[in-house]
Amino acid sequence: MEIKQTAFAGSFAKESQCPRDGKPEYAFIGRSNVGKSSLVNMICKRKSIARISRTPGKTQLLNYFLVDGLWYLVDLPGYGYAKISKKKRAEWQRMIRTYLKTRYTLQSAFVLIDSNVPPQEIDLDFMNELGEEQIPFAIVYTKADRLKPQELEDNLAQIRKAILQHWESLPPEFITSSNTGLGREELLAYIDQVNKQ
Ligand code: GTP
Ligand code: MG
Repeated sequence: MEIKQTAFAGSFAKESQCPRDGKPEYAFIGRSNVGKSSLVNMICKRKSIARISRTPGKTQLLNYFLVDGLWYLVDLPGYGYAKISKKKRAEWQRMIRTYLKTRYTLQSAFVLIDSNVPPQEIDLDFMNELGEEQIPFAIVYTKADRLKPQELEDNLAQIRKAILQHWESLPPEFITSSNTGLGREELLAYIDQVNKQ
């Protein structure tokens, strides 16, 4: 699938404020700093349609991007960011949970996992939560450019093994790099296929 046009469609503090036009949407979710906003830019081939930062916690709202006037990419705030107050963190969690549970147009969540780090409990817990809510999701491994091919394979094998301790099979997965564009075609082909279902 080729993308002709992308547009920022707004930032919203809660699900009830999100677009009501019924267009299908796909949400990027994952730990702070995992590369969600970078992936939006990579998919859209735009340098900074979504804001990126070295400082975790940059994205604090539900950010909507309309692709070819047909479907939305949603950049969600990250979870697991320690340097904010407990109250603020609880607010975020509530917002994300409500969004995931009630968003009628959500076709699939993409859980972003840093391919450079060992399996993280918080990611596994989050996937389990999605499972309990029966929210379809795929995994996107990010920052694959940072590792040598063998290191990458070894790390992914560890992460898959940890996932398979909770799940009978692996969800669809994509290995990506926002720096090189790796995985872009595959991700878009997947979205295209789901849109057509
Ligand atoms: P929050 O909004 O804080 O939750 O973070 P985020 O998940 O949106 O991460 P963001 O896209 O802002 O990227 C965080 C940092 O990781 C930035 O310094 C990016 O440049 C870097 N980064 C993101 N993707 C990649 C990648 O594919 N490769 C490399 N090498 N660095 C990346
Ligand atoms: Mg972000």
